[in-house]
Amino acid sequence: MPDRKWNEQDRHWSRHAPVYEDVFLDPYGPGVENPLWAALDAIPDPGSKTIADLGCGTGPLLSRLLDSFGRVLALDFAEGMLDRARARLGPKAAARVEFLNRPMHELDDLAGQLDVAVAVNSLVMPDVRLIDRTLRAIRSALRPGGVFLAIVPSIDALAYHAMLLADRALERGMSPRAAERLAASQIERRYYDFAFGRFRFQGLSQKFWQPFEVEYRLARAGFASVEIAKVLYPWDDALAGSEELAEFPQSWDWFFRAT
Ligand SMILES: C[S@@+](CC[C@H](N)C(=O)[O-])C[C@H]1O[C@@H](n2cnc3c(N)ncnc32)[C@H](O)[C@@H]1O
Repeated sequence: MPDRKWNEQDRHWSRHAPVYEDVFLDPYGPGVENPLWAALDAIPDPGSKTIADLGCGTGPLLSRLLDSFGRVLALDFAEGMLDRARARLGPKAAARVEFLNRPMHELDDLAGQLDVAVAVNSLVMPDVRLIDRTLRAIRSALRPGGVFLAIVPSIDALAYHAMLLADRALERGMSPRAAERLAASQIERRYYDFAFGRFRFQGLSQKFWQPFEVEYRLARAGFASVEIAKVLYPWDDALAGSEELAEFPQSWDWFFRAT
């Protein structure tokens, strides 16, 4: 496994830390229907439990985890992200978090210790061998009965969004060719590889997921059960052409709960 690869990616992530909230869709925002909250609320006796936020980024989830869980770990391979997470929490709350600056396939020292692992938009390594290795590491880090909760960016939602936008352009009288060209530019298709589910932007390369791939990769890593649900985003400024789309079912990312 070429470790140099994750080193390159961690530099890109660190560089993106200052503009993070502007660049990525926010699953924590108002109006977002996020199944993660109910899944966290359903963990029994969280005060006695250990939870790890894997790829914690700037730490938007950490205070929610500190509110209920007994032991909170926050892991990210980008030091710039961890710096922002500490600053967001402030010194008192940050002192209650165990920060780990490393890639998330390196979990050997945590084997069998985690009751819950969470990964929000961080299972995005462009090399799928590293994703598979990471999923196996997460499974080994979970205690028997442990739960893995994650959100992964959806590539199929992009195709849905493009379809809606192209149809609106056709309704306005555009030719099919012009409508598709406009929709492609609105969803920034040039940054995506739809066959392999990949997004490339300014040196950052991210895996985007199909729902069948969630089931396939989690089973391959040895998880016995996977439940999938949509994180639903409101049609707002974060999504191109949203003013025309309010009447349609919302766009999504994929949430899953694996055991
Ligand atoms: C899109 S951000 C999401 C951050 C955070 N979970 C959130 O919900 O805002 C992805 C984060 O995962 C981290 N990351 C990506 N691949 C990683 C890996 N292999 N090991 C550790 N961290 C990783 C990045 O540095 C970045 O902070």
